[in-house]
Amino acid sequence: MSHYQKPPELYDGLRLHQNENTGGCSPRVIAALAQLRPDQIGFYPPYTAATAAVATYLGVSTDTITLLNGLDEGIMAVAVAYLRAEIGGPQLEAVVPEPAFEIFRFDTAVAGGKLVQVMPHEDFSFPLDEVLAAITPNTRVVFVTNPNNPTGADMPLEAIRTIAHRVPPGAIVFVDEAYAEFAGVSFIPQLDAFPNVVVGRTFSKAFGLAGLRIGCIVGAPQTMDAVRRGVPVYSVNVAAAVAVIAALEDLDHLNDYLRQVNESKALLYAACDRLGLAYVASHSNFVLVRAGDRTDALVKGAFAKGIYFRDRSTEPGCAGSLRIATGIVEHTHRAIAVMEEVLCAAR
Ligand SMILES: Cc1ncc(COP(=O)(O)O)c(C=O)c1O
Repeated sequence: MSHYQKPPELYDGLRLHQNENTGGCSPRVIAALAQLRPDQIGFYPPYTAATAAVATYLGVSTDTITLLNGLDEGIMAVAVAYLRAEIGGPQLEAVVPEPAFEIFRFDTAVAGGKLVQVMPHEDFSFPLDEVLAAITPNTRVVFVTNPNNPTGADMPLEAIRTIAHRVPPGAIVFVDEAYAEFAGVSFIPQLDAFPNVVVGRTFSKAFGLAGLRIGCIVGAPQTMDAVRRGVPVYSVNVAAAVAVIAALEDLDHLNDYLRQVNESKALLYAACDRLGLAYVASHSNFVLVRAGDRTDALVKGAFAKGIYFRDRSTEPGCAGSLRIATGIVEHTHRAIAVMEEVLCAAR
Protein backbone atom coordinates (compact mmCIF):
# COMPACT_ATOMS: atom_id res chain seq x y z
CA MET A 1 0.00 0.00 0.00
CA SER A 2 1.30 3.47 -0.84
CA HIS A 3 1.75 6.07 1.87
CA TYR A 4 -0.83 8.80 2.29
CA GLN A 5 -0.11 11.66 -0.10
CA LYS A 6 -1.24 14.95 1.33
CA PRO A 7 -2.67 17.27 -1.32
CA PRO A 8 -0.22 20.03 -2.26
CA GLU A 9 -0.09 23.13 -0.07
CA LEU A 10 -1.82 25.66 -2.28
CA TYR A 11 -2.41 28.98 -0.60
CA ASP A 12 -2.44 31.48 -3.43
CA GLY A 13 -5.47 30.28 -5.31
CA LEU A 14 -8.99 29.19 -4.52
CA ARG A 15 -8.87 25.97 -2.48
CA LEU A 16 -11.90 23.92 -3.43
CA HIS A 17 -10.08 20.59 -3.11
CA GLN A 18 -10.20 19.84 0.64
CA ASN A 19 -13.82 20.62 1.62
CA GLU A 20 -12.73 23.48 3.85
CA ASN A 21 -14.85 26.52 4.68
CA THR A 22 -13.25 28.90 2.19
CA GLY A 23 -14.87 31.83 4.01
CA GLY A 24 -12.88 31.01 7.14
CA CYS A 25 -13.90 31.03 10.77
CA SER A 26 -16.14 33.43 12.69
CA PRO A 27 -14.59 36.83 13.52
CA ARG A 28 -15.36 35.95 17.15
CA VAL A 29 -12.73 33.22 16.92
CA ILE A 30 -10.11 35.76 15.83
CA ALA A 31 -11.14 38.06 18.70
CA ALA A 32 -10.87 35.20 21.21
CA LEU A 33 -7.43 34.22 19.94
CA ALA A 34 -6.26 37.85 20.18
CA GLN A 35 -7.28 37.86 23.85
CA LEU A 36 -5.17 34.86 24.84
CA ARG A 37 -2.90 35.85 27.71
CA PRO A 38 0.76 34.87 28.10
CA ASP A 39 -0.04 32.69 31.12
CA GLN A 40 -2.66 30.77 29.14
CA ILE A 41 0.00 29.99 26.59
CA GLY A 42 2.54 29.22 29.28
CA PHE A 43 0.36 26.55 30.90
CA TYR A 44 -0.89 23.21 29.64
CA PRO A 45 -4.43 23.81 28.39
CA PRO A 46 -7.56 23.25 30.52
CA TYR A 47 -10.38 21.53 28.64
CA THR A 48 -13.35 21.89 31.00
CA ALA A 49 -14.94 24.91 29.31
CA ALA A 50 -14.34 23.69 25.75
CA THR A 51 -15.67 20.21 26.56
CA ALA A 52 -18.77 21.74 28.17
CA ALA A 53 -19.39 23.97 25.13
CA VAL A 54 -19.05 21.05 22.73
CA ALA A 55 -21.24 18.82 24.93
CA THR A 56 -23.97 21.48 24.98
CA TYR A 57 -23.77 21.92 21.21
CA LEU A 58 -24.04 18.16 20.62
CA GLY A 59 -26.66 17.62 23.35
CA VAL A 60 -24.63 15.04 25.31
CA SER A 61 -22.99 14.84 28.72
CA THR A 62 -19.33 15.79 29.06
CA ASP A 63 -18.21 12.28 30.08
CA THR A 64 -19.14 10.97 26.64
CA ILE A 65 -16.80 13.42 24.81
CA THR A 66 -13.09 13.40 24.08
CA LEU A 67 -11.67 16.48 22.37
CA LEU A 68 -9.15 15.78 19.63
CA ASN A 69 -6.49 17.46 17.57
CA GLY A 70 -8.79 17.11 14.58
CA LEU A 71 -10.97 14.11 13.85
CA ASP A 72 -7.98 12.54 12.09
CA GLU A 73 -6.50 11.97 15.54
CA GLY A 74 -9.68 10.16 16.64
CA ILE A 75 -9.56 7.83 13.64
CA MET A 76 -5.96 6.95 14.45
CA ALA A 77 -6.84 6.41 18.12
CA VAL A 78 -9.71 4.10 17.15
CA ALA A 79 -7.43 2.12 14.82
CA VAL A 80 -4.72 1.79 17.47
CA ALA A 81 -7.20 0.86 20.21
CA TYR A 82 -9.20 -1.70 18.24
CA LEU A 83 -7.05 -3.06 15.40
CA ARG A 84 -3.76 -4.02 17.07
CA ALA A 85 -3.54 -7.81 17.22
CA GLU A 86 -2.70 -9.70 20.40
CA ILE A 87 0.63 -11.53 20.18
CA GLY A 88 -0.13 -14.85 18.50
CA GLY A 89 -3.72 -13.74 17.82
CA PRO A 90 -5.46 -13.30 14.48
CA GLN A 91 -5.11 -10.11 12.44
CA LEU A 92 -8.01 -7.84 13.35
CA GLU A 93 -10.21 -6.44 10.63
CA ALA A 94 -11.61 -3.05 9.66
CA VAL A 95 -14.56 -3.04 7.27
CA VAL A 96 -14.61 0.04 5.04
CA PRO A 97 -17.43 0.68 2.56
CA GLU A 98 -15.79 2.41 -0.38
CA PRO A 99 -15.24 5.01 -1.66
CA ALA A 100 -14.22 6.34 1.74
CA PHE A 101 -12.01 8.89 3.45
CA GLU A 102 -8.57 7.48 2.68
CA ILE A 103 -7.35 7.91 6.27
CA PHE A 104 -9.36 4.81 7.30
CA ARG A 105 -7.13 2.75 5.01
CA PHE A 106 -3.89 4.34 6.16
CA ASP A 107 -4.64 4.13 9.86
CA THR A 108 -5.78 0.52 9.57
CA ALA A 109 -2.41 -0.28 8.00
CA VAL A 110 -0.50 1.69 10.66
CA ALA A 111 -2.24 -0.29 13.43
CA GLY A 112 -1.45 -3.59 11.66
CA GLY A 113 -5.12 -4.29 10.94
CA LYS A 114 -6.53 -6.00 7.88
CA LEU A 115 -8.50 -3.78 5.55
CA VAL A 116 -11.74 -5.32 4.27
CA GLN A 117 -13.02 -3.05 1.52
CA VAL A 118 -16.66 -3.19 0.43
CA MET A 119 -17.14 -2.02 -3.13
CA PRO A 120 -19.81 0.61 -3.87
CA HIS A 121 -23.13 0.37 -5.64
CA GLU A 122 -23.20 2.25 -8.90
CA ASP A 123 -25.56 4.90 -7.44
CA PHE A 124 -23.56 5.07 -4.17
CA SER A 125 -26.54 3.93 -2.11
CA PHE A 126 -25.25 2.37 1.11
CA PRO A 127 -24.20 -1.28 0.53
CA LEU A 128 -25.68 -2.64 3.76
CA ASP A 129 -25.95 -6.30 2.71
CA GLU A 130 -22.35 -6.31 1.48
CA VAL A 131 -21.12 -4.65 4.70
CA LEU A 132 -22.96 -7.25 6.81
CA ALA A 133 -21.49 -10.04 4.67
CA ALA A 134 -17.98 -8.62 5.22
CA ILE A 135 -18.24 -8.85 9.03
CA THR A 136 -16.35 -11.80 10.55
CA PRO A 137 -15.49 -12.86 14.12
CA ASN A 138 -12.24 -10.86 13.66
CA THR A 139 -13.97 -7.60 12.75
CA ARG A 140 -13.16 -4.92 15.31
CA VAL A 141 -14.19 -1.70 13.52
CA VAL A 142 -16.70 -0.88 10.81
CA PHE A 143 -15.92 2.62 9.51
CA VAL A 144 -18.89 4.45 8.01
CA THR A 145 -19.19 8.12 7.05
CA ASN A 146 -22.45 10.02 6.99
CA PRO A 147 -22.68 11.94 4.73
CA ASN A 148 -19.91 10.22 2.86
CA ASN A 149 -16.71 11.71 1.48
CA PRO A 150 -16.02 11.83 -1.49
CA THR A 151 -19.56 11.16 -2.75
CA GLY A 152 -21.69 13.36 -0.49
CA ALA A 153 -24.21 10.49 -0.34
CA ASP A 154 -26.06 9.88 2.90
CA MET A 155 -26.91 6.56 4.55
CA PRO A 156 -29.94 5.48 6.55
CA LEU A 157 -29.41 5.60 10.33
CA GLU A 158 -31.22 2.25 10.38
CA ALA A 159 -28.18 0.75 8.59
CA ILE A 160 -25.93 1.90 11.47
CA ARG A 161 -28.26 0.23 13.98
CA THR A 162 -28.26 -2.98 11.94
CA ILE A 163 -24.45 -3.06 11.70
CA ALA A 164 -24.12 -2.30 15.42
CA HIS A 165 -26.33 -5.31 16.20
CA ARG A 166 -24.31 -7.54 13.88
CA VAL A 167 -20.66 -6.79 14.81
CA PRO A 168 -19.02 -9.28 17.20
CA PRO A 169 -18.58 -8.47 20.91
CA GLY A 170 -15.65 -6.11 21.41
CA ALA A 171 -16.10 -4.47 18.00
CA ILE A 172 -17.36 -0.95 17.32
CA VAL A 173 -19.05 0.96 14.54
CA PHE A 174 -17.23 4.24 13.97
CA VAL A 175 -19.57 6.82 12.44
CA ASP A 176 -17.58 9.66 10.90
CA GLU A 177 -19.85 12.72 10.98
CA ALA A 178 -17.30 15.24 9.70
CA TYR A 179 -20.02 16.72 7.46
CA ALA A 180 -23.09 16.20 9.70
CA GLU A 181 -23.92 19.91 9.95
CA PHE A 182 -24.60 20.01 6.20
CA ALA A 183 -26.98 17.03 6.31
CA GLY A 184 -28.64 18.05 9.59
CA VAL A 185 -28.66 14.39 10.65
CA SER A 186 -26.67 12.68 13.41
CA PHE A 187 -26.50 9.33 15.16
CA ILE A 188 -25.58 11.06 18.42
CA PRO A 189 -29.15 11.10 19.88
CA GLN A 190 -29.18 7.28 19.58
CA LEU A 191 -25.82 6.65 21.24
CA ASP A 192 -27.33 5.85 24.66
CA ALA A 193 -28.89 2.72 23.20
CA PHE A 194 -25.73 1.74 21.28
CA PRO A 195 -22.64 1.51 23.49
CA ASN A 196 -20.68 -0.08 20.63
CA VAL A 197 -21.03 2.97 18.37
CA VAL A 198 -18.55 5.88 18.44
CA VAL A 199 -19.32 9.09 16.54
CA GLY A 200 -16.57 11.40 15.27
CA ARG A 201 -17.13 15.12 14.68
CA THR A 202 -14.92 17.96 13.50
CA PHE A 203 -14.90 21.74 13.65
CA SER A 204 -12.72 21.87 10.53
CA LYS A 205 -15.52 21.98 8.00
CA ALA A 206 -18.75 23.79 8.91
CA PHE A 207 -17.04 25.97 11.53
CA GLY A 208 -13.95 26.81 9.46
CA LEU A 209 -11.38 25.80 12.11
CA ALA A 210 -9.31 23.36 10.02
CA GLY A 211 -6.07 25.26 10.61
CA LEU A 212 -6.45 25.07 14.39
CA ARG A 213 -7.17 21.32 14.42
CA ILE A 214 -10.09 20.49 16.67
CA GLY A 215 -12.63 17.69 16.64
CA CYS A 216 -14.06 15.16 19.05
CA ILE A 217 -15.33 11.65 19.46
CA VAL A 218 -18.53 10.83 21.29
CA GLY A 219 -19.60 7.51 22.75
CA ALA A 220 -20.42 5.50 25.86
CA PRO A 221 -17.79 6.21 28.55
CA GLN A 222 -16.73 2.54 28.81
CA THR A 223 -16.19 2.29 25.04
CA MET A 224 -14.37 5.61 24.94
CA ASP A 225 -11.91 4.45 27.61
CA ALA A 226 -10.05 2.24 25.15
CA VAL A 227 -10.00 4.97 22.48
CA ARG A 228 -8.86 7.64 24.93
CA ARG A 229 -5.72 5.65 25.67
CA GLY A 230 -4.66 6.25 22.06
CA VAL A 231 -5.10 10.04 22.30
CA PRO A 232 -2.01 11.90 23.55
CA VAL A 233 -2.60 14.00 26.68
CA TYR A 234 -2.90 17.70 25.81
CA SER A 235 -3.07 17.03 22.07
CA VAL A 236 -5.55 19.92 21.69
CA ASN A 237 -3.71 23.20 22.08
CA VAL A 238 -5.02 26.19 24.03
CA ALA A 239 -5.79 28.23 20.91
CA ALA A 240 -8.05 25.50 19.55
CA ALA A 241 -9.74 25.05 22.95
CA VAL A 242 -10.51 28.78 23.12
CA ALA A 243 -11.50 28.96 19.46
CA VAL A 244 -14.09 26.22 19.60
CA ILE A 245 -15.95 28.02 22.40
CA ALA A 246 -16.01 31.25 20.39
CA ALA A 247 -17.10 29.41 17.23
CA LEU A 248 -19.98 27.78 19.07
CA GLU A 249 -21.09 31.19 20.36
CA ASP A 250 -21.57 32.37 16.78
CA LEU A 251 -24.12 30.03 15.25
CA ASP A 252 -25.16 32.85 12.90
CA HIS A 253 -21.80 32.44 11.18
CA LEU A 254 -22.43 28.70 10.87
CA ASN A 255 -25.97 29.19 9.60
CA ASP A 256 -24.87 31.70 6.99
CA TYR A 257 -22.30 29.21 5.70
CA LEU A 258 -24.90 26.42 5.63
CA ARG A 259 -27.22 28.68 3.61
CA GLN A 260 -24.42 29.47 1.16
CA VAL A 261 -23.58 25.77 0.82
CA ASN A 262 -27.14 25.02 -0.25
CA GLU A 263 -27.14 27.89 -2.72
CA SER A 264 -23.75 26.82 -4.07
CA LYS A 265 -24.88 23.26 -4.62
CA ALA A 266 -27.93 24.43 -6.56
CA LEU A 267 -25.70 26.68 -8.70
CA LEU A 268 -23.22 23.88 -9.40
CA TYR A 269 -25.95 21.36 -10.22
CA ALA A 270 -27.46 23.82 -12.70
CA ALA A 271 -24.04 24.45 -14.25
CA CYS A 272 -23.41 20.70 -14.57
CA ASP A 273 -26.80 20.28 -16.26
CA ARG A 274 -25.92 23.05 -18.74
CA LEU A 275 -22.49 21.54 -19.40
CA GLY A 276 -23.77 17.98 -19.73
CA LEU A 277 -21.90 16.75 -16.65
CA ALA A 278 -23.37 14.17 -14.29
CA TYR A 279 -23.00 14.59 -10.53
CA VAL A 280 -23.94 12.91 -7.28
CA ALA A 281 -26.61 14.77 -5.27
CA SER A 282 -24.74 15.85 -2.14
CA HIS A 283 -25.71 16.13 1.52
CA SER A 284 -22.42 17.85 2.24
CA ASN A 285 -20.40 20.96 1.34
CA PHE A 286 -18.92 19.47 -1.82
CA VAL A 287 -20.13 17.76 -4.97
CA LEU A 288 -18.66 14.79 -6.81
CA VAL A 289 -18.88 15.69 -10.49
CA ARG A 290 -18.79 12.72 -12.84
CA ALA A 291 -17.03 14.38 -15.75
CA GLY A 292 -15.77 11.15 -17.38
CA ASP A 293 -13.00 11.78 -19.88
CA ARG A 294 -13.26 15.54 -19.26
CA THR A 295 -12.10 15.16 -15.64
CA ASP A 296 -8.40 15.67 -16.29
CA ALA A 297 -8.99 18.73 -18.49
CA LEU A 298 -11.21 20.29 -15.82
CA VAL A 299 -8.80 19.67 -12.94
CA LYS A 300 -5.73 20.81 -14.88
CA GLY A 301 -7.46 23.71 -16.61
CA ALA A 302 -8.79 25.06 -13.30
CA PHE A 303 -5.39 24.52 -11.65
CA ALA A 304 -3.77 26.67 -14.33
CA LYS A 305 -6.16 29.46 -13.27
CA GLY A 306 -5.42 28.99 -9.58
CA ILE A 307 -8.65 27.13 -8.74
CA TYR A 308 -8.13 23.75 -7.15
CA PHE A 309 -10.46 20.80 -7.63
CA ARG A 310 -9.69 17.27 -6.41
CA ASP A 311 -9.45 14.46 -8.94
CA ARG A 312 -10.99 11.43 -7.21
CA SER A 313 -10.79 9.13 -10.25
CA THR A 314 -8.60 6.55 -8.52
CA GLU A 315 -11.06 5.97 -5.67
CA PRO A 316 -13.22 2.83 -5.94
CA GLY A 317 -16.29 3.46 -8.12
CA CYS A 318 -15.16 7.02 -8.92
CA ALA A 319 -13.44 6.69 -12.32
CA GLY A 320 -13.79 10.01 -14.16
CA SER A 321 -14.84 12.03 -11.10
CA LEU A 322 -13.67 15.24 -9.48
CA ARG A 323 -14.74 16.74 -6.18
CA ILE A 324 -15.48 20.44 -5.81
CA ALA A 325 -16.16 22.22 -2.52
CA THR A 326 -19.45 24.12 -2.69
CA GLY A 327 -19.39 26.70 0.07
CA ILE A 328 -19.07 30.45 -0.33
CA VAL A 329 -21.33 31.44 -3.23
CA GLU A 330 -18.83 33.86 -4.75
CA HIS A 331 -16.26 31.06 -4.85
CA THR A 332 -18.75 28.74 -6.52
CA HIS A 333 -19.38 31.34 -9.23
CA ARG A 334 -15.61 31.39 -9.87
CA ALA A 335 -15.51 27.60 -10.03
CA ILE A 336 -18.37 27.50 -12.50
CA ALA A 337 -16.81 30.21 -14.66
CA VAL A 338 -13.57 28.26 -14.93
CA MET A 339 -15.44 25.02 -15.71
CA GLU A 340 -17.31 26.77 -18.54
CA GLU A 341 -14.10 28.31 -19.84
CA VAL A 342 -12.20 25.01 -19.83
CA LEU A 343 -14.98 23.00 -21.45
CA CYS A 344 -15.76 25.64 -24.09
CA ALA A 345 -12.06 25.89 -24.99
CA ALA A 346 -11.94 22.10 -25.37
CA ARG A 347 -14.78 22.05 -27.92
C1 LIG B 1 -14.73 12.07 6.34
C2 LIG B 1 -13.68 12.87 7.03
N1 LIG B 1 -13.35 12.56 8.28
C3 LIG B 1 -12.42 13.26 8.96
C4 LIG B 1 -11.78 14.32 8.36
C5 LIG B 1 -10.69 15.02 9.12
O1 LIG B 1 -11.16 16.04 9.90
P1 LIG B 1 -10.17 16.89 10.79
O2 LIG B 1 -9.79 18.11 10.01
O3 LIG B 1 -10.98 17.22 11.99
O4 LIG B 1 -8.99 16.05 11.13
C6 LIG B 1 -12.09 14.69 7.07
C7 LIG B 1 -11.37 15.81 6.41
O5 LIG B 1 -11.35 15.95 5.22
C8 LIG B 1 -13.06 13.94 6.37
O6 LIG B 1 -13.38 14.23 5.11
